[in-house]
Amino acid sequence: MIVGIPKEIKEYEFRVGATPSMVRALVESGHQVLVEKNAGEAIGFTNEMYQFHGARVVETAADVYKSEMIIKVKEPQESEFKYLYEGQILFCYLHLAPDPIQTKRLIESKVVAIAYETVTDSKGQLPLLVPMSEIAGRIAIQAGAVSLQMNNGGKGRLLGGVPGVFPSNVVVIGGGVVGTEAARMAMGLGANVTILDKNIDRLRVLDAQYGPTLKTLYSTPTEIETVLKWADLVVGAVLIPGKTAPKLITRDMLKTMTPGSVIVDVAIDQGGCAETSRPTTHGDPTFVEEGVLHYCVANMPGACARTSTQALTNATMDYALEIANKGYRQALWENVGLRNGLNVCLGKVTNESVAHDLGYAYVTTEKTL
Ligand SMILES: NC(=O)c1ccc[n+]([C@@H]2O[C@H](COP(=O)([O-])OP(=O)(O)OC[C@H]3O[C@@H](n4cnc5c(N)ncnc54)[C@H](O)[C@@H]3O)[C@@H](O)[C@H]2O)c1
Repeated sequence: MIVGIPKEIKEYEFRVGATPSMVRALVESGHQVLVEKNAGEAIGFTNEMYQFHGARVVETAADVYKSEMIIKVKEPQESEFKYLYEGQILFCYLHLAPDPIQTKRLIESKVVAIAYETVTDSKGQLPLLVPMSEIAGRIAIQAGAVSLQMNNGGKGRLLGGVPGVFPSNVVVIGGGVVGTEAARMAMGLGANVTILDKNIDRLRVLDAQYGPTLKTLYSTPTEIETVLKWADLVVGAVLIPGKTAPKLITRDMLKTMTPGSVIVDVAIDQGGCAETSRPTTHGDPTFVEEGVLHYCVANMPGACARTSTQALTNATMDYALEIANKGYRQALWENVGLRNGLNVCLGKVTNESVAHDLGYAYVTTEKTL
């Protein structure tokens, strides 16, 4: 199969759909790989590295989009839709439910669109989303620590303190992937860490894993009110799948926090878990409400595009190989988890939630194959 890796053109997007080592794996399996010139240049994956691993570097997007399968990171942008053609495989993040224009374009183009975010594994989890949550959880503490500095408008507390001075208090709301990574990073820096969740089993796992260094707390509005009063850094890491994030931190609660405290609302991509949160960008990541600094960047992994690319492709590589080796029909037929990734196929919507939210008829994958 001919596989194409375009350069991402979405604003502030420096990740790339395949690393040189992923290209090598595809080439060694007998596929031809076209990489658009400078696709990985910004994060240190040079054209020469791709060539060394067997890719053909092509000049333009039009050249690369002739490929039978396109592997990229973000959804196609307006200028890219014209390149898509019937039966072409598109493998990337799509997030179609809130995006009627993209969905219409993909239906019209009759591509086979497999979305990273709906591929499932044998445990029913989302293996192509987890790496980005791991990265966002870790960045949350780095970003929070820097935001606490005086020069950035914070209260001037060092997360780990120093001998003779207490460390800072970090509160993590939500003990899933993001929350666990954030808690781990904060403990690693020597902070006092408390994690809240509504899932008592999750708290048991965290307690068993980290012992008394990590304080666990069942999440209720009363407990949240209490911990916010002494928190220096709060990480919002809740998720109720498929729903807008619950507003667990109200404006009134913010007023009880000490000025210069910081909230990193990672759940901002689902609307945020603080009433006062609104999306920001890496260019201008913070704002102040009620004296509390808010960091609400919706694409946090983009800040560490090199690590994110490596983590993402570690997870996508086997799926990409499976599709390329078997062709999409056989690969989707044999792998239920991969089949769950199929969102649009040859002009039909094959994801039930997308069809429901955007008013299209839902056609099962089995019927389209
Ligand atoms: N901003 C970004 O760049 C970025 C990147 C990755 C993930 N995210 C977002 O971060 C959020 C968390 O993702 P995740 O992968 O950790 O999800 P996850 O499902 O692994 O964890 C979410 C946790 O929230 C808990 N929860 C639900 N309601 C709660 C409540 N009322 N109080 C306390 N805990 C509650 C759940 O029990 C679960 O343990 C999601 O909204 C995700 O989309 C954002």
